[in-house]
Amino acid sequence: MLRTHTCGELRVRDEGKHVKLCGWVDRIRDLGGVRFVDLRDRYGETQIVCDVNSKAYEVIDDLTRESVILVEGTVRKRPKGTENPNISTGEIEVVAEKIEILSAAQPLPFYPNENPKEEMRLKYRYIDLRSKRMQNNIILRYKVTRTIRNYFDELGFLEIETPFLTKSTPEGARDFLVPSRLRPGKFYALPQSPQLFKQLLMISGFDRYFQIVRCFRDEDLRADRQPEFTQVDVEMSFVDVEDVLSVSEGMIARVFKEVLDVDLSLPFDRLRYHEAMEKYGTDKPDRRYGMELQDFGNAFEGTDFKVIRKVLEEGGSVKGFVVPNFAPEMSRKRGDELMERAKELGLGGLLWFKIENGLSSPHLKHLESEFKTIAEKAGMKEGDVCLIAAHKDRALLNEALGTLRLEIGKEHFSHLAKGFDVLWVIDFPYFEWSEEEERFVARHHPFTMPVEETLDSDHTKVRAKAYDIVINGYEVGGGSIRIHKREIQEKIFQLLGISKEEAQNKFGFFLEAFKYGVPPHGGIAFGLDRLVSIITGENSIREVIPFPKTGNGVCLLTGAPSEVDEKQLKELRIRVEEG
Ligand code: AMO
Repeated sequence: MLRTHTCGELRVRDEGKHVKLCGWVDRIRDLGGVRFVDLRDRYGETQIVCDVNSKAYEVIDDLTRESVILVEGTVRKRPKGTENPNISTGEIEVVAEKIEILSAAQPLPFYPNENPKEEMRLKYRYIDLRSKRMQNNIILRYKVTRTIRNYFDELGFLEIETPFLTKSTPEGARDFLVPSRLRPGKFYALPQSPQLFKQLLMISGFDRYFQIVRCFRDEDLRADRQPEFTQVDVEMSFVDVEDVLSVSEGMIARVFKEVLDVDLSLPFDRLRYHEAMEKYGTDKPDRRYGMELQDFGNAFEGTDFKVIRKVLEEGGSVKGFVVPNFAPEMSRKRGDELMERAKELGLGGLLWFKIENGLSSPHLKHLESEFKTIAEKAGMKEGDVCLIAAHKDRALLNEALGTLRLEIGKEHFSHLAKGFDVLWVIDFPYFEWSEEEERFVARHHPFTMPVEETLDSDHTKVRAKAYDIVINGYEVGGGSIRIHKREIQEKIFQLLGISKEEAQNKFGFFLEAFKYGVPPHGGIAFGLDRLVSIITGENSIREVIPFPKTGNGVCLLTGAPSEVDEKQLKELRIRVEEG
């Protein structure tokens, strides 16, 4: 080894030792007769002192920041009053006898910890990754995966790999395709998840499987989505919902304890899908903001207020929520802004009132008695504001109010967004209507076990044995119990409008496996990037992925995706169309 110690290692107990340190030059300070270098590596930093009479002193004439150097010297206790309590090596320094420049750095586009624009950070990711923040994030990510591996290993799970060059899996996003040179005109798909293979592993008898695995989805990107991302993928045999939930809770609790020393209380709360939509207008609620949606239909019974009367007559609903202590914010102008936002979200409008020295509202003249009833029913206090909307489509009303709730929460109540709100959402509808495909599709995937008693030709009634885990408003994982009986699978395909031929074409190999002895099984997959971003408090999963893509799927570092040689295309028998 070129070095005897790392830059985070030396302490007062090492005084007098002759050491060799390697690292990056973080800072150089010249105080005339003495020069200091802060030498940095991923373990920390150590102050190097070069006396004017030492050979090392001259080397610093040409030394540039971020050069990599080797320092040979002796550890000494820092003189009283010059200790630095902010760093672990702050009580010592190394008096340099010799400095060797291993690699001189030219001026950098930016220096670590300067935090320039994201494009710069991604283009020079290897520099960005030198920052304290990114080093911490990447190290913490490793601690999370290590904890997960230990946890599953102790429970007798096996980590088993599954193919990347495979056939399309039915997760509902677009596939990334890989052309086959040996079979021109044919394509592999990169897996959206190992779903089918992990089920096949159950059929093979590996009754407890997990894998920390890359998945690929060609979908529109957001802060919490990447085209390639990592799942902690889990599958178990001879289990029902409770078993999967409790193994998952153990994993999440262990990660929070070992990595953050946070005790999560077990078991996690459970919210039925329907309840989540009614109370929060979303299936991934962040409950830390409070402000549950409430039904105010009763308060408007027999109202003269035309718009609402009409909605109620059409079978619609009136709902709203109370924003505590929001009255000082709630000017007419703010009310108008919220109204505009409500309209963007598909609502006809927004009513509001506040309690500030009595009831106050632009609509008070017409709705005083209704507002009074609501204030009483909702237990409103001085300073509270109530926002109310009506719509004939209750689902739309829930979702729009849920969005408003979250936006107000994030903007005005960020101090509430502390700690971790962990919950299960269970009892999902099996199907959802796809506007794009104009048909019902499976919310999870078509191998999910339905709650058998709900199997019905009315798609909206069928429930799935599926569950999502939600932390601070993010869907961190999802899974289900799978179908292991042919009759049920056939019924589901029939409800999905998938013909026998189509099923055979798409998943024939999979369906065939189901003829040869299938254990009841189920599982879950966690989004590792999302989990780590929540643990680190980062808003985007890009901050916890070493080399992520931009919002439009580009790797700014390598320039991928890029054009390829004509020769490569020819071999693959691919022609690129203009425009
Ligand atoms: P699902 O599609 O819900 O389930 O994915 C599981 C978890 O993976 C994360 N995730 C993503 N993270 C980053 N970028 C993306 N593009 C992205 N897409 C999904 C989410 C999500 O909860 N095979 C099933 C699991 C099962 O049934 O066992 C599946 O893939 O956190």
